[in-house]
Amino acid sequence: MEIQNQTNQNSDSNNQNSNNTNAILTNTSDTYSRSKCNVQNPDLSDNDIVILAIETSCDETAAAVIQNGRTVLSNVISSQIAMHTLYGGVVPEIASRKHMEQINQVIEMALSEAEVTLDDITAIGVTYGPGLVGALLVGVAEAKAIAYAKNIPLVGVHHIEGHISANYIENPDLEPPFMALVVSGGHTHLVLVKEYGEYEIIGRTRDDAAGEAFDKVARAVGLGYPGGPKIDKLAKEGNLHAIEFPRAQVDGFPYDFSFSGIKSSVLNYINTCEMKNIEINKADLVASFQNAVIDALVSRAISATKEYGIGKLAIAGGVASNSALRLSIKEQCEANQIQLFSPSPIFCTDNAAMIGVAAYYEYMNGTRHGLDLNAVPNLKLGQRV
Ligand code: KG4
Ligand code: ZN
Repeated sequence: MEIQNQTNQNSDSNNQNSNNTNAILTNTSDTYSRSKCNVQNPDLSDNDIVILAIETSCDETAAAVIQNGRTVLSNVISSQIAMHTLYGGVVPEIASRKHMEQINQVIEMALSEAEVTLDDITAIGVTYGPGLVGALLVGVAEAKAIAYAKNIPLVGVHHIEGHISANYIENPDLEPPFMALVVSGGHTHLVLVKEYGEYEIIGRTRDDAAGEAFDKVARAVGLGYPGGPKIDKLAKEGNLHAIEFPRAQVDGFPYDFSFSGIKSSVLNYINTCEMKNIEINKADLVASFQNAVIDALVSRAISATKEYGIGKLAIAGGVASNSALRLSIKEQCEANQIQLFSPSPIFCTDNAAMIGVAAYYEYMNGTRHGLDLNAVPNLKLGQRV
């Protein structure tokens, strides 16, 4: 086991980062990295609501302990990325098997980092959809087993509602209503968060999700999987205006997105260059692609926030860790007097802390699932099964 230090500092000035992101531990493939910042014996009282959260919807096996909704006592992530990189994308069967191998030790680490035992846990929160069915099932079965063995409530959580809830961790003052731009590998949504647990989708992608477009373009350019972080890095060396890629509009749906046109244009550009034997400047190509995607995301997020008169915009999901997106949306929010909320990158990509936060508000709203809870791979946002 390789142990590295990982800082958990928040680079965004709009977040008032508190000391509540105490124990972060990540594992890439079979190597682990961890940092433990000021875990103070959490001193739990009988009135505290302590959630053990589990997330296994895709390629990270994650567990976290959350105190009273917004204090992260531990956040353990075992990432399978190095394994899936060999195949150029997530292989569902491998994901399920890896989750089964990792889940028990990840939970044990989360409990021990938080300095609690299962006897301190008020309820178990678990992602039950959307995601890969075999992967989800590992987390759901584990959560049900613990809930049954310890006779504590089980709370199923929607993965995307978890991503949105990541914003509560470092922003103690954030309360609904607010607008959320959700940009992950499988989803691109503009969501009006009306209340805790109450969501209205006001825009969605008609084809590829933003993260999917990043991953497909990265593969075409030969950067490998996962594409987003690699494009983010390479784009810093490129000219974002080198190539003008199209920004699609969906007639009559001003807040819907479409990324397949941009993706096809990139593929056509690559084919044309190859046929004409023109050398491709990869940095310019990915910078121009990234700029087109960011333009589409930021312009819609800003106009929706203005139209709904909310004044607060949160970003969520893996693509929300993109450095150029964060910069652009920060500038646009400042120019339009919108308060921006953006989780630290560790809380943007898949993690269980966000699931614990969402589970807390579900628990407080009275949600309790039975031991017949099943994985729902295509669970809709706001849907309760
Ligand atoms: O939210 P997430 O971790 O998992 C899903 O729920 O899908 O998002 C994963 C997606 C991948 O498509 C990945 O390429 C993208 O987020 N991503 C990024 C960055 N980091 C992760 N995309 C752009 N820039 C990044 N820095
Ligand atoms: Zn996710």
